[in-house]
Amino acid sequence: MKIFIDTANIEMIEEINSWGILDGVTTNPSLIAKEKTDLKTCVKRISEIVDGPISAEAISMTAPEMIKEGRELSKIHDNINVKLPMCVEALKATKVLSSEGIDVNMTLIFSPHQALLASKAGARFVSPFVGRLDDIGQSGSEALAQIVGAFRNYDTGTEIIAASIRHPMHVLEAALLGADIATIPYDILKKMVSHPKTDEGIRSFLADYEKSKK
Ligand code: E4P
Repeated sequence: MKIFIDTANIEMIEEINSWGILDGVTTNPSLIAKEKTDLKTCVKRISEIVDGPISAEAISMTAPEMIKEGRELSKIHDNINVKLPMCVEALKATKVLSSEGIDVNMTLIFSPHQALLASKAGARFVSPFVGRLDDIGQSGSEALAQIVGAFRNYDTGTEIIAASIRHPMHVLEAALLGADIATIPYDILKKMVSHPKTDEGIRSFLADYEKSKK
């Protein structure tokens, strides 16, 4: 499973990229707003750090505007893909943008039906929001499982990004289900590294080594 980071924070991206495990980055308007920057400056800077897909979300709401905005965003760097929110206008825009070789990440996917339509329109990525489904008492993993299961029957060319990840178990579920990618917030990536028994083991190995020198 590929690992993306879900943030627009440059320091966090630099740090996780330095671990050697980062395959790409997703941003959204809320994440960009938190960094008090603008989308173009931010994704351009990210493209100088990470060699992999970077999602930049359009804020237009009609197909012609999405197409225009998508074309502009895609010019920032070859690795930029255009994130569009699932709706009829976005399907129309996806058809056009994908036919021009511009990758689309269809976001705010909450059902297998939406994922199938996005893929059919030519989306390179679909982003089911696992955590936001859990938030309203529905099963995010079940929706993800249905999408992975349905896509497995066909050669769709669309990659599934498990998004809205809230804790390390969501990452594990995504991997066990066979999602292509998980886009993971910084604090969850940090949690994934640690285990109390690893810390204890390091401490005792070092202590034993020190003792052996005496
Ligand atoms: C995905 O690309 C989105 O940016 C993100 O995963 C949304 O997560 P949230 O539900 O924690 O806002």
